[in-house]
Amino acid sequence: MKRILSGIQPTGSLNIGTYLGSVKNFVKLQDELPDYEFFIFIADLHAITVYKDKQELRKLIRELAALYIACGLRPERVNLFIQSEVPAHAQMAYLLQCNAYIGELERMTQYKDKSKKQETGVTVGLFTYPTLMAADILLYDPDFVPVGRDQKQHLELTRDIAQRVNNKYNDIFTVPEPLIAEVGAKINSLTDPTAKMSKSDANEKSRINLLDPEHIIKKRIRSAVTDSLGTITYDPEKRPGISNLMTIYSLIGNKSFDEIEAMYADKGYKEFKDDLGELIYQELKPIQDRYNELINSKELDDIFDKGRDAAYKVSQKKLFKLMNRIGLGRKR
Ligand code: AMP
Ligand code: TRP
Repeated sequence: MKRILSGIQPTGSLNIGTYLGSVKNFVKLQDELPDYEFFIFIADLHAITVYKDKQELRKLIRELAALYIACGLRPERVNLFIQSEVPAHAQMAYLLQCNAYIGELERMTQYKDKSKKQETGVTVGLFTYPTLMAADILLYDPDFVPVGRDQKQHLELTRDIAQRVNNKYNDIFTVPEPLIAEVGAKINSLTDPTAKMSKSDANEKSRINLLDPEHIIKKRIRSAVTDSLGTITYDPEKRPGISNLMTIYSLIGNKSFDEIEAMYADKGYKEFKDDLGELIYQELKPIQDRYNELINSKELDDIFDKGRDAAYKVSQKKLFKLMNRIGLGRKR
């Protein structure tokens, strides 16, 4: 069976940018590709390359998983698991570190950016992060790995490591293909529509989080930056503010830009923003209801158990296979 695998870092709340650009895409893929098996995991080992508060980390792991299910990931279609509950990830990462070069890791732009910004010590974990990511992937022989553009370099390194191990130890891994989502439009900040809507933006008014209450959702849209023209027309170069709002409208309301322009031809920002606020609220309301049902439920734990068991089986087999080929321990 063909496989699709991806990991999600438990950092910050999900906002409508990530939802429209990434989560909805996963949900679509699970339905469009019935002959693929899906593995999606919460990458908690990746989250501790910089220190995290214990309570906060636990909360984020659960919250993120519950939100993905609430957004429509179906546990019967997708093996959803927590990375640290499947020990082969950390073990495989070590074996891959012995097949990766310091120079290669030093070239990773994310490492260079993050280590430059870091004020306190840069951990070895931050440096070797791409080998853990390679382990996450190669354990499962996935055919496709959907990631954002910023992960492309890590994917390429994963392919290099896979080929190197295959040459040394005789075809162990499937060399995976990245699946960079080009279509899932980019959603920009509500306060600076030329920059990406981001969970790390210090200004909370720049985004709508999936768990925001109705009055916040509507307030954020009402105060979203536009321009002084007052008309509803799509022109991302000259009118980034209204165009960004129209992109959100179009994705949630399933309307083309032409249709939206026609609907609001003789209306102004007020009507458009009121409708958009309501549209977003109606989209998020069922997600929030389902989230509240799930977050403290046994159902969520059952989903994690099932995902962990499925992941354990596949990953353990691959780990032992490589250990045997290398000559570690006794033959299994
Ligand atoms: P992040 O949580 O920022 O690591 O992003 C997770 C995924 O969501 C990646 O595939 C990103 O490309 C996507 N994503 C994050 N923010 C946005 C946004 N504002 N618009 C569209 N896609 C986004
Ligand atoms: N590094 C990825 C990110 O920051 C998350 C991730 C970890 C991942 N392991 C992975 C994604 C394996 C795809 C496959 O977004």
